[in-house]
Amino acid sequence: MAGEKHAILAELESLVSECRHSLDQASSLEGLEEARIAFLGRKGRLAAAMAEMVGLSKEDRPEVGRKANDVKAALTELLESHQSLLNRNKADAKVRGFDPSVPPRSPWGGSMHPVSLVSQEICDVFKKLGFDIVSGPEVENDWHNFEALNIPPDHPARDMQDTLYVTDNILLRTHTSPLQVRTMLEQQPPVAVIAPGKVYRRDSDLTHTPMFDQIEGLLVDTKTTMSDLRGILRHMCREVFNTDIKLRFRPSFFPFTEPSAEVDISCVMCGGKGTVGGKPCRVCKQTGWIEILGCGMVDPNVYGYVGYDPDKYVGWAFGLGVERVAMLKYGIGDLRMFFENDVRFLRQFS
Ligand code: DAH
Repeated sequence: MAGEKHAILAELESLVSECRHSLDQASSLEGLEEARIAFLGRKGRLAAAMAEMVGLSKEDRPEVGRKANDVKAALTELLESHQSLLNRNKADAKVRGFDPSVPPRSPWGGSMHPVSLVSQEICDVFKKLGFDIVSGPEVENDWHNFEALNIPPDHPARDMQDTLYVTDNILLRTHTSPLQVRTMLEQQPPVAVIAPGKVYRRDSDLTHTPMFDQIEGLLVDTKTTMSDLRGILRHMCREVFNTDIKLRFRPSFFPFTEPSAEVDISCVMCGGKGTVGGKPCRVCKQTGWIEILGCGMVDPNVYGYVGYDPDKYVGWAFGLGVERVAMLKYGIGDLRMFFENDVRFLRQFS
């Protein structure tokens, strides 16, 4: 009899750890229910162990009975706590919308800004022609930004209206043209450089922002003409706009070039016709032309500032507004979109 008592106690003892083991494998409510039936059910392990008690002596029964009650309580608690664990996991998964069978969402990548894209594209055209890319400081001094470019102290371009001064002599460069000066001071001809960069002006309205992007081009050699410049600019426009763009040179004035010109391209919106679908073209205001850059033959006075022999060398230069080209290339009607950094806008260029 004593042997039977110990056997029943040992069986009861093992039920708790066996149940815990079964629950470790039960990851669903169905698995939990199976374990409950196996251990606490009418024909379960606990019921079977208690049925053995009928053969026990009167003295042994209370002890085994107490043990059976303790085991029942322990099993009940185990099953309940596993149930609440499963419920919590299910709720969490719902909140996270987690479904392990769905492939992961690919992370959002950044994309190049359209102004950077166009700037890079233009520079690439010139790189293939053998031009070097150069850069320089955005905080410039008066001499590089104005004086050496043949812009005398009383010239209207120096007006406080346009220039953002840091001190009397230090300013935020108003154009990329000081890079012509810096390049010529550093290199001897033949020189062929392209210089992209940010420029700053005290100007802010619908079509002007205090910061914008320019690309400067400079070529100096013993022999070159304005028609070389024209051919290269035409090539660049055709590469960037992927269509047969026409160029128009209009006489203009810049202190650092002589002669000077402003260059218009045939309107990319209306193809130069001035109308789109019978309606006046908004972009070129019906003229069929859009201005994109200023250029000219380097003024011999500038050679004097950088120590080049004006009798030996000739050259040409141009300065182009990158935002303007990007607006035309991508059909963007509002300059402000470039600066608002709305991801819905930017993501279209990835
Ligand atoms: N720097 C001029 C501007 O910002 C543009 C320009 C005109 C650049 C003629 C040039 C040039 O290199 O030759 O308005």
